[in-house]
Amino acid sequence: PNITFILPDESIKVVDAFEGDSIMQTAVDAGIEEITADCGGNSSCATCHCIIDDAWIDKIGTADEVEFSVMESAIEPQPNSRLSCQIKVTDILDGAIIHVPEAEW
Ligand code: FES
Repeated sequence: PNITFILPDESIKVVDAFEGDSIMQTAVDAGIEEITADCGGNSSCATCHCIIDDAWIDKIGTADEVEFSVMESAIEPQPNSRLSCQIKVTDILDGAIIHVPEAEW
């Protein structure tokens, strides 16, 4: 599935992602430097923060309470904020649009 990342400078990176990878892994492999993923995908660092495009939030889903509190301890999350390590790539996500914020740490 193709995942479209919109970077802080508005540039667009379309990545051919592997099913079963996380969005975080996909971004790291694509060289997106804002996603440092310091905890390695353990849902504890929030350095994989991304914002799901409005058009995709229903399919991908919002953060649950636990995920939200991890983000709140590190950043100021928006309603569509997610930890990208907690989103698995599936076929359903083909064409998904993910906004990558400026690194906040
Ligand atoms: Fe640390 Fe996602 S990589 S919370």
